[in-house]
Amino acid sequence: MLKSEILAAIEEMVLQNQNELIQTRRVIHQNPELSFKEIQTSERIYNALQEIPSLSVSRPTETSVLAVLKGGKEGKALALRSDMDALAIQEENQIDYQSLQPGVMHACGHDGHIAMLLSAAKILARFQSEIKGEIRFIFQHAEEYHPGGAREIVRQGVLKGVDGIFAVHLWVPLSVGKIGIARGPLMAAPDNFDITILGKGGHAAMPQETIDPILVSAQVITGLQALVSRMNNPLDPLVLSITGIHGGGTAYNVIPSQVDMKGTVRTFSREKRREIPAVMEKMIAGVCSAYGAGYTFQYELGYDPVINDDSFVSKISDILLRTVGADALETVSPVMGGEDFSAYLQDVPGALLFIGAGNAEKGIVNPHHHPRFNIDEESLVIGLRVLILTSMGFLDMI
Ligand code: NI
Repeated sequence: MLKSEILAAIEEMVLQNQNELIQTRRVIHQNPELSFKEIQTSERIYNALQEIPSLSVSRPTETSVLAVLKGGKEGKALALRSDMDALAIQEENQIDYQSLQPGVMHACGHDGHIAMLLSAAKILARFQSEIKGEIRFIFQHAEEYHPGGAREIVRQGVLKGVDGIFAVHLWVPLSVGKIGIARGPLMAAPDNFDITILGKGGHAAMPQETIDPILVSAQVITGLQALVSRMNNPLDPLVLSITGIHGGGTAYNVIPSQVDMKGTVRTFSREKRREIPAVMEKMIAGVCSAYGAGYTFQYELGYDPVINDDSFVSKISDILLRTVGADALETVSPVMGGEDFSAYLQDVPGALLFIGAGNAEKGIVNPHHHPRFNIDEESLVIGLRVLILTSMGFLDMI
């Protein structure tokens, strides 16, 4: 086939697939499952892939699915990845395909990722004899929950012999029709911490007899915020958020003995990430010692930052410029959210792209992980097109 014939055939198949794409996404949306528990979801994916001729389908882990498409010609190997897990959120959208699972919701667009990658597998499989090389479709479990599914997939050797890896994320902050590309850093390293302030409880009317952990924790919070606002180079991104605080609270007249806090730190640079736990502990220890309080401090490293590979991004930008055109492409700034796609990028060059899924006119504006999060379903066909064009471009077919 000529390149122009391939491009025309892709476009026809993508448009033919639009209804199925939306229906698949809605079925998945109605049946969300939490991280590491994607039993039915992976079963559904496995069965759908089994029906596609020329794919060999397997299960690298209990709830993940891999499909391999070996092309008719020699060439490189590309991996495409979709995540598949939902979140512990009660859906508040009034839609006819609302979640059927109380307290569980696809509130990040992973339902759409599954639908797009299934359709991409189906369409790319029809070009099997033309394909130069190999495409691996990875349906990964547990993106939302540390330590994440990506690491397990990599450990199973799924990336062996792969030359590049690519994924798209539906992205509501970006308007539908836009494709968001970033060179280098895209998503931050999300690390978590727990702090306990150990004071001395007592009667609220005799504070001099106590070490008030509530006052100490207030000073600790202020001190930790100063690490960000006063002690960090503003050009080196750093977020420190306290997301939970609990102490006493059962009586008006009792000073508790202990306050527990938790939070998250977001960084991009390796150096900053390495130094932050010690800097935090110095602040906590200093404040506590001034008040005579004790403390415990635990810091847990999360995913690595997602740093897109420069030459991979150049390659796909070039493909998309030639096919979807410059108007659709938008350079996006990095965001401080995390993504375990970084686990693949440790081994193989690749990139994560954003597919615009927001639409203010339709009221589709709620952020990811919100109980009324939704996507503009027009974005699905765009994401599908991007997955297919990028794959074919990477394998030097178009
Ligand atoms: Ni997500």
